[in-house]
Amino acid sequence: MVVIAICGVPGTGKSRLAELFSKNGFYAVHLSQLVVENKLYDGYDKKRDAYIINEHKLVRKVKEIVAKHSNVVVEGIGAEALPSDIVDVCIVLTCEPFELERRLLERGFPHEKIEENLEAERFGIILGEALSNYGESKIMVLDTTYTSTEELYRVIVNELRKRGLQL
Ligand SMILES: Nc1ncnc2c1ncn2[C@@H]1O[C@H](COP(=O)(O)OP(=O)(O)OP(=O)(O)O)[C@@H](O)[C@H]1O
Ligand SMILES: [Mg+2]
Repeated sequence: MVVIAICGVPGTGKSRLAELFSKNGFYAVHLSQLVVENKLYDGYDKKRDAYIINEHKLVRKVKEIVAKHSNVVVEGIGAEALPSDIVDVCIVLTCEPFELERRLLERGFPHEKIEENLEAERFGIILGEALSNYGESKIMVLDTTYTSTEELYRVIVNELRKRGLQL
């Protein structure tokens, strides 16, 4: 049984990678979808255009899912902050700012949001949070700038086997 968290700023390719795991037998949890479908929020922040997540409810739901399925991937903003004891490996996806900007422009992100995310990426905010939450031994950092999602998937599966995790 393996539980993998996939994190990274928007546009690093978390959802795509999780889809590949899903095609290969993993149960995929998309945190943003999970929050909406199960009303795991306390309200909506109009200014930030985002739900105010109820962490307690979210963690309870993720634990429920993890208990029911053998191999699980949990992806999305917030995957860097799940309880460390339920996560075996945390994959942190990164992307060089010039390419991240291109991806976010393509997705129609407003200028302000792009700048905010580029800054978070330059400072390695998500990596820092993942490291302090899960500890170095559970972290795998992968640069998505020049590598396809399929290739990343192969690299990860290889690495997991080397680490002795049964998939
Ligand atoms: N490895 C990759 N190589 C090239 N382009 C990629 C790669 N991964 C993702 N992309 C591009 O980035 C876009 C965003 O990918 P994806 O939706 O998986 O990101 P995300 O991290 O889930 O973002 P969000 O946090 O907003 O949900 C894709 O549509 C694709 O164009
Ligand atoms: Mg996504």
